[in-house]
Formats: sequence, C-alpha cells, structure tokens
Amino acid sequence: MNHHNTPLFTALMQHAESDPVQFHIPGHKKGAGADPQFRSFIGDNALSIDLINIVPLDDLHQPAGVIQEAEQLAADAFAADYTLFSVQGTTGAIMTMIMSVCSPGDRIILPRNAHKSIMSAVIFAGAVPVWVNPEKDDQLGIDHGVTLSSVRQALKNNPSAKAVLLINPTYYGTSVNLLDMVEMIHSYGIPVLVDEAHGTLLHFHDDLPMSAMQAGADMAATSVHKLGGSMTQSSVLNVQGDLVDIRRVRTFMSMLTTTSTSYLLLASLDTARRQLALHGKALAEQTIRLAADTRRQINGISGMYCFGEEICGESGVFAYDPTKLCIHLGGLDISGFAAEQWLRQHHKIEVELSDLKNILCLVTLGDTERETGLLLKALRHLSETFKSRENKSSQEPAAVPDFSSFSLTPREAFYASAESVELRESCGRVISEFVYVYPPGIPILVPGQLITPEIVDYIQQHIEVGLPVKGPEDPDIHKLRVVAVPERTAAQ
Ligand SMILES: Cc1ncc(COP(=O)(O)O)c(C=O)c1O
Repeated sequence: MNHHNTPLFTALMQHAESDPVQFHIPGHKKGAGADPQFRSFIGDNALSIDLINIVPLDDLHQPAGVIQEAEQLAADAFAADYTLFSVQGTTGAIMTMIMSVCSPGDRIILPRNAHKSIMSAVIFAGAVPVWVNPEKDDQLGIDHGVTLSSVRQALKNNPSAKAVLLINPTYYGTSVNLLDMVEMIHSYGIPVLVDEAHGTLLHFHDDLPMSAMQAGADMAATSVHKLGGSMTQSSVLNVQGDLVDIRRVRTFMSMLTTTSTSYLLLASLDTARRQLALHGKALAEQTIRLAADTRRQINGISGMYCFGEEICGESGVFAYDPTKLCIHLGGLDISGFAAEQWLRQHHKIEVELSDLKNILCLVTLGDTERETGLLLKALRHLSETFKSRENKSSQEPAAVPDFSSFSLTPREAFYASAESVELRESCGRVISEFVYVYPPGIPILVPGQLITPEIVDYIQQHIEVGLPVKGPEDPDIHKLRVVAVPERTAAQ
C-alpha cells in the first residue's frame, strides 16, 4: 500500500479548491458565516474543509470511497484486518467494542482500573462485569496490569464470559505480557478487547511494549489524538481475526456516532497515519531517546523518582513505555496535585495528570530538548523549594481501593430509584452514580457498589488536596446518590 497517499485529506483539499457553491451544512459556508474573530484565528483553510458527508467525500457511517481507502491504509499501518475511524474519541471506540460483544446479561471480565468509558459501556450494554484487581504498586501509589493467573481464575469462575478487556499500556505506562495473555484467553474461545488509548506508538517501535494487534488481540481502541499526532477526539478502532463480527462492530460504531462527523478530525487521522506509517519508527526512536535522557536527569534530582526499566518484573509489570515520565515526589513536601499547580504558576508547565504523590509528563513526537530542558529546570526548582526536612513524604500515596461488593449490576443501580445522602452518611449504602478522579478517569465508585468507610476516606483525602473528584450530580461531593431501596442481592 502506498502510505504517501492521503485519500481523504487530498479529496477535501481538491473539493475546497474547486470552490463549490454550497447549499448544505455547515452553515458557516467556508467561514463566511462564522464569527469574524474565530474565523481569522482558526483560518480559512481549516474552515474550507469543515465539510459534511456529500457524495465526493464519502460517509463514515458506511464508507465506500475516500474514507474507506483511508481506513484501509490505517489498517495496513496498524497491522489490523480493519480500522474504523472514530470522531468520538477512544470512548466511542471502547463503547463499540463492548457493545458489539456483550448483550444484556452477558458477563465481561474487566480490570478494576478500567476507564470510565468502559463502565459507561457496561451500563448501556446491560453487561455484568467480573472485576479482576490489578497489581498494586504500594510505593508509587498506582495500579499496574492484571496478572495471567488472576484472569485465568476469573475465566474458570465465569465460563460463560463473553470477552476479556485489558489495558495496554496503563495511563502511567506499564504493560502486561499481552502475548501470553491473549493466547490464554483465546484458549477459552472468547475475544480480547484492548483499551489502547495510550498506545498509538506501540506498533511503530520495538523498544515499546507490544501492541494489541501484534499480540493477536481481537479489537483495540487507540487514541491517535493522544500520542499519534491527530486532532483531539480522533481515534481508531482496530479489528482482526474471526472472533468478532466486523459488520456488528460497524453497526454499533455507527449507532454511537454523530451523523455530522467532523472532516477535520477525519482528515487529521488520515494524515497522522501517513506520518506514522512513513516516519513512525524514526519519530518514536527520537522520542524514546529524548525521554530516556530526561528520565536519567530527573532521577538525579533530589526527592524525585521516575521509574524505568527496573520496574519490569515488579508488581506484575512486563514492559513499560519509556516515553511516559511518571515522576514520584516521595521525598518532597508537596502533593502531586499541588506540584501540578506550582509548575503552572511558576514555570507555565502543564503536566498530563497528577495524583496524591505523582505527576505524569508525556514526551511525544512534538517535543525537543528545549521543552524537556524547561521541564528539568522547573523540576529542579520544585525540588529545591519543597525539599523535605524529614526526608519523608508528607502525603502518603494511595492507589484506588479495591472494589467493595456489588449488590446490583451497574445498570440496575443506575436506573434504580435513588436518593441523595451526605457523603459521611453514605457508608453501607449502594451507590447509583459514578465517582472518579479525572484524569485518569478510573472510577472510585461504580453504580451498584457498596460504599465503605475506606472508600469515603479515600474520596475525602482527594477532595482535601484539591484533586478533581467528579461524577456525582452534586459537583461539591457533599452528597452522593444512593439506591433508595435495595432491590435484590448478589449480581456477581
Ligand atoms: C485508559 C483510558 N482509556 C480510554 C480513554 C478515553 O479516551 P478518549 O479521551 O480518546 O475518549 C482514556 C482517556 O483519558 C484513558 O485514559
């Protein structure tokens, strides 16, 4: 396949150049009807290809022309049988994966540190989750992957499970032995779905963990916009093998997708694929080197630790993504969240996420030594400013607590009649809404779950340090919605 070609982007540019008289949406008509300041800021080029699914430009809902060609090139680049473009982020692709394999009442095996989009899909599908706890890293206060033996045990206990979903890599950048995991799960004859939101580059360099498609997984949802150079909200769903029905996958993707698909996002996927296919290896190489050098220097800064190769073999970690810098502030008198704010205020540095004791910085194809140099300068200043006199952390790290018991399925609890109670008084009740910290978006509470004192403490600890706890109808989290009357027991 010729990866120099960009069928969709080229068609859009040619269409715009032909200067058609448009009597269709979008009503801004090449920018003429847009707010002048916005138009001048965004530029007429961008507005001229902000088009819709007229015949020459194909239709994402049933691609048969230039979008189909662009998706076929992407499938070749990611070594998939099929690639579906998503303008609803990886969230839309994850929902498609789960809903296309689970009917109401079906069981699906999920890691406890699953992103909120996975939980939403479980509710929409009416699936019954079987949770597997990931390995915890008590020193860093983060979760890694699930182990082969825990997934095998879940499969033995739930022989009717319809699929297993895995994360590759985690937000913090660690991976399980995906090849062995896929082989083991396939021996049960069911598909492996992979949340590869943070794994766009994996396929393009051997020094990165193995990609889901390389490991033989059946579907993988990948945020090309996060690390692959396309525009925010654009992702792909890669599909291979015969354990999933591609027609059903397409049907769900279409059902979950706006009819007014953004051609700017689609064109950015087409061109990101060109860049990755032609230069992905070289760009990844350069990124890995830059991150490795930055990591080495961070580990020379007092009070900080950024894990690297040595993490492999620990806490169930098989491989790690060197481009993600998870900086543990264990030796400093500052929480991760306060460090995030301090870096913004004093150095105009924006990190990817923070938690109680870590900040996460992503080195990508877009970085150079200039940016990493500024980060290192700021981190040295942070270390000098918050050096711990006791040489001990003021804020203990804490991974998300294990799930307490579920007395209803997430869907049952979500739709049950509910009432609001004070956070402190909610212990012993069954939650009917989500509570999570975003980012990373891993739920602390999922509808149907028993609220325990440990979980309430965990939520309060996060609110106290100012971390963004979200989900409940009450944005201040003074109250939680709980199921009014317990309806029945033991969903799992
Ligand atoms: C692990 C994980 N999965 C899925 C998603 C959803 O991806 P998107 O933002 O592309 O919808 C995210 C987003 O942060 C994520 O961190």
